[in-house]
Amino acid sequence: MRIGVFDSGLGGLSTLLACLRYLPSAEYRFFGDVAHAPYGDKDPQVVRRWTAEAYERFLAAGVDAVVLACNTATSAAAAPLREQSPVPILGLEPAIKKALDVESGPILLLATTLTVRGDKLRALLQRMDGAQQRVRAVACPGLMEIVEAQTTDWRAQAESYWRERLLPHFVELRPKGLVLGCTHYCWLEDAFRDWVGPGCRVYDGNDGLARHLWRRLYGTEAPAPGALPQVARVQLEFSAQREEKTQQASAWLASRGVLVERAGMARPRPFTRG
Ligand code: DGL
Repeated sequence: MRIGVFDSGLGGLSTLLACLRYLPSAEYRFFGDVAHAPYGDKDPQVVRRWTAEAYERFLAAGVDAVVLACNTATSAAAAPLREQSPVPILGLEPAIKKALDVESGPILLLATTLTVRGDKLRALLQRMDGAQQRVRAVACPGLMEIVEAQTTDWRAQAESYWRERLLPHFVELRPKGLVLGCTHYCWLEDAFRDWVGPGCRVYDGNDGLARHLWRRLYGTEAPAPGALPQVARVQLEFSAQREEKTQQASAWLASRGVLVERAGMARPRPFTRG
């Protein structure tokens, strides 16, 4: 089983980890389009083109499924790509439904500007009972960059971001659920839990996507997730800063106890873009 996993950068490794709990021995090809990141402040048409290019490369590499490990790319590109795709395309959506089902109070959603302004989110909120009244969506420009760079003081930078730009929403809304609608923010999940305290639960869409991936591949409900494998077959590819990003990605996965063994797929020509 070969699975292509795509994000604008390293954030989507959080989705890869979720997939590894269900499909530990699949071969993964992870592509981070760091040359064009962040996606969140770009025009949806342009993000659609970049996502389509990554998708084509995955198809050429013979994948059995494509995972858009990026809420922003899903918002801009999942629907048109699905129309013609011979393989399943799984996209990440903010886990609003889950949060609304579990919690009875307001929900704070954090996502990129493109996701917050996108038709996809609007449609999602319209489809769910009470969602428009209960969910406040807040765009977080600049937060992805803090996580992606992981400078020595990135946690402190993220905490300042939280205090200055997000805490006012939190205090005013008093949400019962916080939805992380960008895969980069998932790398701050433990910090978010501390900041919001025990009265507010933190949600993301990674586990739901991984279970959906299983269903699409095998046509049955996914089993309970297993432990992360100690070694995973992952081919790491980036559209810029290749060595640095590959090292960074390996270190992020190693921080969760997963060592990368390069996947055995035929090596495609490197991603080069203008
Ligand atoms: N990680 C991406 C997401 O889930 C987007 C970050 C960005 O490039 O702005 O939305």
